[in-house]
Amino acid sequence: NSGHVAIAIDGPAASGKSTIARELSKRLGLVMVNSGTMYRAVTWKVVKDGIDAENPAAVAEALEKMNLQCGVDGLDSTLTVDGIDPGEELRSQEVNAHVSHVAAVPEVRRHLVDLQRSYLQHSDVIMEGRDIGSAVFPDTPYKIYVDADPSVRQGRREAIGEIDSVTDRDRKDSQRETDPLKVADGARVLDNSGHTVETAVEAALEILIQQGLDLPSLNA
Ligand code: CDP
Ligand code: CDP
Repeated sequence: NSGHVAIAIDGPAASGKSTIARELSKRLGLVMVNSGTMYRAVTWKVVKDGIDAENPAAVAEALEKMNLQCGVDGLDSTLTVDGIDPGEELRSQEVNAHVSHVAAVPEVRRHLVDLQRSYLQHSDVIMEGRDIGSAVFPDTPYKIYVDADPSVRQGRREAIGEIDSVTDRDRKDSQRETDPLKVADGARVLDNSGHTVETAVEAALEILIQQGLDLPSLNA
C-alpha cells in the first residue's frame, strides 16, 4: 500500500522470533518492531496502577487514559507509556503472567494493530509477534512462522533466568477470539528446535528469498 516492505515473523513464546528478527533487521537494514513489547507495555501500566488484568472492561478503560507513544531510533523501535520507557520491567514475572489476558481485549488489539501498521508509512519493517502475518499485514508475501518444541522453548527461557510459563501463554494466545496465534495464510513454518541461531537465520533468509524478497533493492 505505502510502497514499503513488511516482513512478518510470528510464532509461540520463546521460539526465537526476536533473535531471528533482530539479526535480519541488521542484515537487511529494516526497522525491527517487537509487537509483544506493546502488549507488555499496556500490561505493565495496568499492573502498576492496580487494575485487574482479567477484567476486560477495566483494561479497556485504562487503555483510553494511557498515552502510548511508539517511534524509531535507527533500526530499533522505541516506546513510552505516559512518557516513561519501562525497560526491563516489561519482562517481569508479573507482566509475563498477565500479558495474555490484556492481549485478548479487543480494544487493546485494535489500538495496537493501528500503531503497528503506522510504522509502514515511514519505513520498511520486520515485525514479530503472534498475528503480524494474519491480522496486521495480511497482504505481505513475506511471512515466517517460527516454531520449536515446547520443552526446547521453555528450556531456552529458563536458560536466561526468566520466570515464565510459555505453554500457558501459548494456550491463551491460541484460544482467544480476536486474532489468535496461528500459522497465517501464506506463511512458511521454520522449525527452530534443532537449529543454532546462525543456521536459523540462514533458514529464515532462504524462506524470504523463496517468497520473492529482493535483497539488493532493499539495501539500495
Ligand atoms: O517474547 P515472548 O515470545 O515471550 O513474548 P512477546 O512476543 O513479548 O509477547 C508477549 C505477549 O503479548 C504474548 O504472549 C501475547 O499474549 C501478546 N502478543 C499478542 O497478542 N500479539 C502480538 N502480535 C504480540 C504479542
Ligand atoms: O522472541 P521469542 O520469544 O520467540 O524468542 P527469543 O526472545 O528470541 O528467545 C529465544 C532464545 O533461544 C534466545 O535466548 C536465543 O538465544 C535462544 N536460541 C534461539 O533463539 N535460536 C536457536 N536456534 C537457539 C537458541
